[in-house]
Amino acid sequence: MLDELQALEQEALAAVAAAADGPALDAVQSEYVGKKGRLSGVLRTVGSLPPEQRGPVGKAANLARRAVEAAIEARRGDLIAAADANLGETEWVDATLPPPAARAAAGRLGGTVHPITALVRDMEEIFLSMGFDTLDGPWVEDDRHNFGALNIPADHPARDMQDTYWLSDGNLLRTHTSPVQVRAMEASAPPIRAVCLGRVFRHEELDATHENTFHQAEGFFVDRGVSVGHMLYVLRTLLREILDDDVQVRLRPSYFPFVEPGFEMDVTFRGKWMELLGCGMVHPYVLEQGGIDPSVYSGFAFGLGIDRLVMLKHGVEDVRHFMGGDLRFLRQFAGGLEG
Ligand code: PHE
Repeated sequence: MLDELQALEQEALAAVAAAADGPALDAVQSEYVGKKGRLSGVLRTVGSLPPEQRGPVGKAANLARRAVEAAIEARRGDLIAAADANLGETEWVDATLPPPAARAAAGRLGGTVHPITALVRDMEEIFLSMGFDTLDGPWVEDDRHNFGALNIPADHPARDMQDTYWLSDGNLLRTHTSPVQVRAMEASAPPIRAVCLGRVFRHEELDATHENTFHQAEGFFVDRGVSVGHMLYVLRTLLREILDDDVQVRLRPSYFPFVEPGFEMDVTFRGKWMELLGCGMVHPYVLEQGGIDPSVYSGFAFGLGIDRLVMLKHGVEDVRHFMGGDLRFLRQFAGGLEG
């Protein structure tokens, strides 16, 4: 009996050592020392042994069970430590992947290009084909670039046209992309042909046509002899590419402090005239502020709301959808923006 017990203990210890992971160890545990385990079974038979054997066999069986239990705990500790050491290999996730459900339904639920980004890319390509550079400018601007150098001094009522987020250090979130005109003129000499497509911010009451964060495309061309005719050509080409081959455009006189003369441009779209953008000839004061001699050079500039253009093109009825983060809205553009 005692020999049998010893053999069983050896067998159990070998099985513990061979258990390669937690579940395997659990199986060994229940086979030998679980309630219905083989060592427990021996202990249960002790009562039916001849009285002189009960003491030694009971003692040996208890010792064997304790030895196996101790080996199991030690093995469990080793397995956990080994798994922890490998955590970097076994448990890493690629945080840039879409979640599993999205991956499973790839195509329908996978990532999509935001409709604003899609139009920005299209427009940049069109401008590039007309010889324009694309520029970036800072979102946090200073008063001079956003207002002063654009002929909007501190007490000018035109400041009220653009409700501003002021920062505590006196800077502001740019209210339009026009400061990039000034930065481009400061940084280079004519001819300058550039566009800046980017985010702008206004402290607006939000409604279906007003967002506090939206997107503009600024374009400008400064050289000798630049005229309104050049501007018309560039804008008409752009709008025909984006909207429709037979878009008509017209200019109406309008006022922006940084252009003279200034205009509003309308386009025909699906049979109706729509007001679309502001434009004009760069004001001589603005050229001077950019370090360019207005007696030698002239330029045109325009600024156009990208969100509004996407709304027009795709029948989006509420500008707040663009920054709202509702995937049901964004997924509608999953197939791309053509058609
Ligand atoms: N910056 C003007 C706006 O945001 C648009 C504009 C740009 C007008 C360039 C004329 C010339 O309203």
